[in-house]
Amino acid sequence: MCGIVAYLGHREACPIILKGLHRLEYRGYDSAGVALLNGTLSVYKKKGKVAELENFLATKDTHATVGMGHTRWATHGEPNDVNAHPHYSSSERIAIIHNGIIENYAALKTHLEQQGHVFHSDTDTEVFVNLIEEIQTQNHCTLEEAVRLALHEVIGAYAIVVLSKDAPDQLIAARKGSPLVIGIGEGEFFVASDATPIIEYTNEVVYVNDYELVVIKDGQMAIRSREDVVQTPYIQRLELELDSIEKGGYEHFMLKEIFEQPRSILDSMRGRLELGGSHLNMAGFRAYEQKFVNAQRIIIVACGTSWHAGLVAEYLIEDLARIPVEVEYASEFRYRNPVISERDIVIAISQSGETADTLAALELAKSKGATIFGICNVVGSSIARATDAGAYTHAGPEIGVASTKAFTAQVTVLTLLAMCIGQRKGTLSDTRLRELTTELHNIPTKVEKALKLDTEIQEIAETFKDVPNFLYLGRGYNFPVALEGALKLKEISYIHAEGYPAAEMKHGPIALIDENMPVVVIATKDSSYEKVVSNIQEVKARKGRIIAVVTEGDTTIPAMAEFVIEVPATSEVLMPLVSVIPLQLLSYHIAVLRGCNVDQPRNLAKSVTVE
Ligand code: G6P
Repeated sequence: MCGIVAYLGHREACPIILKGLHRLEYRGYDSAGVALLNGTLSVYKKKGKVAELENFLATKDTHATVGMGHTRWATHGEPNDVNAHPHYSSSERIAIIHNGIIENYAALKTHLEQQGHVFHSDTDTEVFVNLIEEIQTQNHCTLEEAVRLALHEVIGAYAIVVLSKDAPDQLIAARKGSPLVIGIGEGEFFVASDATPIIEYTNEVVYVNDYELVVIKDGQMAIRSREDVVQTPYIQRLELELDSIEKGGYEHFMLKEIFEQPRSILDSMRGRLELGGSHLNMAGFRAYEQKFVNAQRIIIVACGTSWHAGLVAEYLIEDLARIPVEVEYASEFRYRNPVISERDIVIAISQSGETADTLAALELAKSKGATIFGICNVVGSSIARATDAGAYTHAGPEIGVASTKAFTAQVTVLTLLAMCIGQRKGTLSDTRLRELTTELHNIPTKVEKALKLDTEIQEIAETFKDVPNFLYLGRGYNFPVALEGALKLKEISYIHAEGYPAAEMKHGPIALIDENMPVVVIATKDSSYEKVVSNIQEVKARKGRIIAVVTEGDTTIPAMAEFVIEVPATSEVLMPLVSVIPLQLLSYHIAVLRGCNVDQPRNLAKSVTVE
């Protein structure tokens, strides 16, 4: 997730690009840069937010009518000035900005180094631009031809813009997998990751399709396929107002992030497993696999939603890899003199990678000799840097304070980790592994289907928006989902909510149940289904108002519940990825109906860096 913007026309490019970068900052903000083409090809870049780049540029000559800019969310290489985009080729004659991941960058880099290319950054993007330069040198071809040939060699996702000193007044863009939109003005063109940098200049846009190459020169735009076949651009009129598209058309970042989950779950699996196969590829695990195999215990430390993802992992790892797991609140663990040995592995889970208690807990475990594995979303964050090994979740920046897509990305990565350990230890059969990889590939489609419940859930939210309390119940893999559902509601609607293991309800919360108490029961078809049906009967006998999340086609529970939400069937171990979706939507709609500030709930912060 990065933001890209470019301009070619008759105006000063730099102010347009900087304004555009501000609008795209939600896509990433660890560093930013611009390249300006005006006789020379100048690149200026800075670690930090776009505002810092702006200050840095204040003393520079930025006069140019062609240029491009980038705001980065690091994937390859920590956030710093060198890893920021744009990236020059070795000769500094070509520059590129890139949003995406080039998966075969290591092999390409080795080849290019043998050809004499020199690399300065840790990024996959610098490989891309040197590949273009190498092809152009070898083939004595145009920049356009060199870019086209390079696109045949890279594997992965990209939206790119390329400028060359040797091709003044020319701008080349291409996409596969990452978004790219072209704005068409009077003798001027705009390129961006979404329409926000464009809307105030023109409302005529072309959404670039995968495998298309856009060449803008001599006041004209031409689109060709990667196979060099001319494509007819489909020019669309933007109907949206500037305000409404700043969150990608969604009213709140939280809603946008809920709806991004089919994509973010896919991103967190990308390159890590093959469809229906038994080949798992987690780089961080590979180096420490023997430690995992010999581990006597795994301790998971985390806070908030990440702690709930850790609870799902407890079920996953014990089930698939047969290693005992303990899930700890980082803030408790760090102060209770825990027993830790060198044969323990501590997994620290954190979206931000900056949560102070989680960081302190892992430092404590490290000092006692445990191996530390991190699962973070923010690349280069403190926790990611403090671990021995780890896996990024690649969910993209999460801006809404209530975590949604980060949770499903964490659960996806933890599932892959449990599968890796189970495969390596021999506790997970090949047949089960293949079943799980096939079903994991189906999860984004099933999440997409669950998101279609939105209107239905809005109606349920209307009914319950004014209640003072909620109870959430689940068993097995759905118990952490109950906790997460209750947390979401508390965080953003300020309604008191409790998540409980469904059977444990009898030991306390059942006393609260009367005809005014809504009880959300996650009751999908799994190994504890019959038991959950009995728990629903217990709630019903006390006149509780039942909202049941069930598997599609269930005929038993609908006869008992006031509201039924049907989610697609999936493997029991993967169900949290699907069953959490309606709970996120329910909390969102209740909060909106209550007039709460969904994206910035009172008293909360996205990243808690104090203990
Ligand atoms: C804060 C956030 C939560 C998050 C928790 C842990 O409380 O508001 O959304 O789950 O911190 O954050 P982390 O970045 O470590 O996952």
